[in-house]
Amino acid sequence: ARHLLGIEHLAPEEIRTVLDLAETYVDLNRRTVKHSDALAGMTQINMFFEASTRTQASFELAGKRLGADVMNMSVAHSSVKKGETLIDTAMTLNAMHPDLLVVRHPASGAVDLLAQKVNCAVLNAGDGRHEHPTQALLDALTIRRAKGRIQRLTVAICGDIAHSRVARSNLILLGKMENRVRLIGPPTLMPSGVGDLGCEVYQDMREGLKDCDVVMMLRLQRERMDGGFIPSEREYYHRFGLDAEKLAFAKEDAIVMHPGPMNRGVEIDGELADDINRSVIQHQVEMGVAVRMACMDLLARNLRAERGARAAGVM
Ligand code: CP
Repeated sequence: ARHLLGIEHLAPEEIRTVLDLAETYVDLNRRTVKHSDALAGMTQINMFFEASTRTQASFELAGKRLGADVMNMSVAHSSVKKGETLIDTAMTLNAMHPDLLVVRHPASGAVDLLAQKVNCAVLNAGDGRHEHPTQALLDALTIRRAKGRIQRLTVAICGDIAHSRVARSNLILLGKMENRVRLIGPPTLMPSGVGDLGCEVYQDMREGLKDCDVVMMLRLQRERMDGGFIPSEREYYHRFGLDAEKLAFAKEDAIVMHPGPMNRGVEIDGELADDINRSVIQHQVEMGVAVRMACMDLLARNLRAERGARAAGVM
């Protein structure tokens, strides 16, 4: 494929290919030198129209470790502030001939639209409530490394499902890899048509967590609530916040995940988040670099093959 826009476009075999290639980069991650020339001579531009710590930093690091020239466009200081549209901004950068464009945008579908306009490979770094594919891939790698497999597991995704692109991408990926997915949260934070998603839905944490292998917590995304239902943090934590007492209902060796940024004392107990015997939150961040290296490496190979075919007159 030319782009990475969503997990919905990936076949199980392609997901496995990304994870296997990422695995080859894992041990190299701790070094500070460039580790590969997979993106040598290529230019990567990161365009983040929404705040990010993990995704932006890891894409930058991943590109540099693969030998690309990496440029972070600062949206706050760009002509977006003067009213330039997303497409005009993208076309302006496209005219500088980047090879890879990494885009985060608050509107669902904005990254797909942009991908139709530019000549380079586009990677979705999160679009609205739609998809966050590299997050689901790094979560899958983290699970596979902790559990030894990414099939036949029972995974609970808990909290603000309705506003979460992380939940959506994970739900699609875990389903494709034949896992059992449970969604746990208040009905007001469940997406519409949740019954058609092929997963079990619970409103009670203790019931939903029973015998789970993986517990994935989500941030309460107040910025996407549009003045609708906003639960009180105290009440929310009491009912849906993960603490040791609720986690005891899951399997004894269940792992705890959170994509970050997390609100301690809202969706997760701070001590539990830091408990290295249960929490793999820091591993998720570590796997993020390896997975983004793998995604960009694979897209660069496709890009080179496409250009080679075009130069040979095949396309
Ligand atoms: N998980 C995630 O996307 O984090 P950032 O918003 O910090 O990139």
